Amino acid sequence: MLGICYGMQLMAQDLGGRVERGAGEFGKTRVRVGGALASGLPEEQTAWMSHRDSVSAPPEGATVTAGSDATPIAAFEAPERRLYGVQFHPEVVHTPHGREVLKNFLYGVAGARPTWTAAAVIEEQVERIRAQVGRERVLCALSGGVDSAVAALLVHKAVGEQLTCVFVDHGLLRKDEAAQVVETFEGHFHVPLVHVDASARFLARLEGVTEPEEKRRIVGEEFIRVFEEEAGRLGETRFLVQGTLYSDVIESGGTDGVAAKIKSHHNVGGLPEDMTMELVEPLRSLFKDEVRRVGEELGLPEAMVWRHPFPGPGLAIRIIGEVTRERLETLREADAILLEEVRRAGLYRELWQCFAVLPAIRSVGVQGDERTYGYPIVIRAVTSEDAMTADWARLPYDLLETIASRIVNEIPAVNRVALDLTSKPPATIEWE
Ligand code: XMP
Repeated sequence: MLGICYGMQLMAQDLGGRVERGAGEFGKTRVRVGGALASGLPEEQTAWMSHRDSVSAPPEGATVTAGSDATPIAAFEAPERRLYGVQFHPEVVHTPHGREVLKNFLYGVAGARPTWTAAAVIEEQVERIRAQVGRERVLCALSGGVDSAVAALLVHKAVGEQLTCVFVDHGLLRKDEAAQVVETFEGHFHVPLVHVDASARFLARLEGVTEPEEKRRIVGEEFIRVFEEEAGRLGETRFLVQGTLYSDVIESGGTDGVAAKIKSHHNVGGLPEDMTMELVEPLRSLFKDEVRRVGEELGLPEAMVWRHPFPGPGLAIRIIGEVTRERLETLREADAILLEEVRRAGLYRELWQCFAVLPAIRSVGVQGDERTYGYPIVIRAVTSEDAMTADWARLPYDLLETIASRIVNEIPAVNRVALDLTSKPPATIEWE
């Protein structure tokens, strides 16, 4: 058992030691470390601390193995009781040797073996899928995102043409995204694919709608309708592929019993609740970074594996105001220029999300000897670990200049570019 921070304090308190209000330490702290967890590591190192209380006596039989100036007991171990505790945070990047501390615990102390590889996951899942599905037919809704793409490829690897993918193109995707999904799945992997261009239907239903939640509801509902129609056309299908991740399993409150219900906040806008299909969930035990590694191993293109998150309602919630074909085209072009330049600068993977927003207002400009009355484009770029909080990204001025001048020069409907300087909270990442 490894207790981290509060976990270490809880172990001390419950197992015969003591916890008291101490001086507290916040941020980077010099610590002297020893013992099994520090095997092969420098005796003096920097570690990230975030605590006010401290352990003043370790659990019975435990040896103190680390200390800092303010916290004499910063780690302990009791090998015969199999108890280990660290006050600092080995799991954050600000503890440079943290990963090695965790490795020492897992491989050195707990006897775990580092056998996780993307190839092993693929092999295991392929077998499971075959056992679950047998000779039955399987359906998968592709969204263009990495989770549904990897899930679909795993199932295809397992049962080949028993799988049919349905890709509902709502016309609210980024530039060239729909073409890429079709090219990748149909062209490259030869996955049976039904590509539904439903953009006219979605646009018609969004006409005159300005309220964000109403846009979400409409896109979600229309998505279900189109998907059901297509599924109906394919005849009786027993299984449905779902890109549920381990983080979703945890969020849904446990590892049992969640398989039966389909997540309502799923990326593609939620699937019908009364669908009676059984779920195939090959990503259930994986975190996002592991899904990406499996995707790479399966040969999914880099652009798809590392794509930034994209909301189900797509560009509809990045046009502030009514969604029209003309505005969609304008926004899509601006977004493509922004992403192209960010990629060229080598910053794409450092950002959690980066996109253009089109507030449907007009401002006055002057281009050549003409007065213009055009749209502004807002650049939104954020760094984040999990989208719960986010910071606005400090993109270099030169890059911002290139992006802004390309957008106004190449897109006639735009005469102004602004930069969003708000973190989350108080703002959200998306504008709607
Ligand atoms: P906010 O804007 O709430 O977004 O800071 C947090 C993350 O969620 C994404 N997002 C959505 N994803 N349907 C989705 O599938 C939605 O309606 C939706 N709204 C926001 C957003 O892009 C960010 O990654």
